[in-house]
Amino acid sequence: MFPALRSEIAGVSLRNVARRFGTPTFVYDAATIERKIDDLKAFDVVRYAQKACSNIAILDLMRRKGVVVDAVSAGEIHRALKAGFQPHAAAGAPHPIVYTADIFDRDALEMVLKHDIHVNCGSPDMLEQYGARKPGANVTLRINPGFGHGHSQKTNTGGEQSKHGIWHEQLDDCLRIADRHGLSVTGLHLHIGSGTDMEHLSQVCGAMEKLAADVGRTLTTISAGGGLPTIYQEGDTYVDVAAYYKLWDASRKRLEAQFGHKLALELEPGRYLVAESGYLVAEIRAIKKMGKNTFYLLDAGFNNLARPILYGSHHPMSIVPGPLDEVGTIAVDERPKADVIVGGPLCESGDIFTQAEGGYVCTRSLPTAQVGELLVIECAGAYGFAMGSNYNSKPYAAEVLLRNGQAHLIRARQTPDDLIRGEVIPV
Ligand code: LLP
Repeated sequence: MFPALRSEIAGVSLRNVARRFGTPTFVYDAATIERKIDDLKAFDVVRYAQKACSNIAILDLMRRKGVVVDAVSAGEIHRALKAGFQPHAAAGAPHPIVYTADIFDRDALEMVLKHDIHVNCGSPDMLEQYGARKPGANVTLRINPGFGHGHSQKTNTGGEQSKHGIWHEQLDDCLRIADRHGLSVTGLHLHIGSGTDMEHLSQVCGAMEKLAADVGRTLTTISAGGGLPTIYQEGDTYVDVAAYYKLWDASRKRLEAQFGHKLALELEPGRYLVAESGYLVAEIRAIKKMGKNTFYLLDAGFNNLARPILYGSHHPMSIVPGPLDEVGTIAVDERPKADVIVGGPLCESGDIFTQAEGGYVCTRSLPTAQVGELLVIECAGAYGFAMGSNYNSKPYAAEVLLRNGQAHLIRARQTPDDLIRGEVIPV
């Protein structure tokens, strides 16, 4: 399923991309994102969790495909507005932007009020603060149903150990807070974790039905949250979207019968839409032997892709045959494989892309390669660039969107001056 050698993505030569835009560069294939959006068309509303990959060109692509957007900060609201999303909905249409969080920082509160952005409250305090400033508004409540599940303990957002959402036993208290401010609870939202599985996802439907019955007839929207898993290695399987929809649709229909009116069913995927579309293209700059181990050292590190060091996440890798400096087509050749460790340039031992959770360094069987060839880290579109940092004063990577056989620069690589912007030496 994942090639060990590749020279192109969506018909665009990777060596040309690297020569034109430099490395490391994130490359996204627009057609893959569009295909993933189409997979989910049964749902009334697909609300993209932009934290996964928030470049405004990606948001614009989503908007053109009829996807609406989730924002978790004033910055993400700003991005959504810049990408052309309207702040609030036309009658009967889904909210183009929803602010979902557990707190309002002061910037976010002012931003949602200024632009009249719909709010999904994840704490009683947030509801109080919003009600005090915008009595009479419609709100969504995010509930922690008391259980959760994720691909890592760090991405489990339900249960008592999680800070997310309103504890399910506090729903009544929150309905009273809403009443006190004249707020109408029109939406209910559950998101139990990221990269979970069908079994856990299906438990959420039952919790939703019970909680929705407690809220009652003011509800017009229920949201199944995000968390739809995607594939990161051989053997991973795609979630059965049709079966998942059926479960949710049945819950929705039972609630509609109870309330006597229609309910919109929202889904809030992040990684499902963008993970597979994205590739981190890096150059191998050194090949080192350390005792029995061979290291391929890249010009990309955990400043570009933090998932391996954070969660021990596995990402497929491939080698682009042919030195970067050599112009002309180079055939994808047959090469022997070797077990290697792949790391980055940062001054930190954990800067290793082939590691398991807990920081245990692993080897990966990859085609033998040379310094000056490209290595591609795949399935990196979600939580890749978005979780990047300037650690070691490394600039953010460039981002490139492939569309109709063309490579478009959608974010320029940072310059040295970008790195120190805003810094001041006091006199
Ligand atoms: N909705 C809410 C309220 C969320 O908190 C999240 C993710 C999503 C939707 C989208 O989840 P997705 O469909 O992408 O799984 N950095 C981690 C993932 C953190 C997810 C945070 N919230 C990773 O790289 O796996």
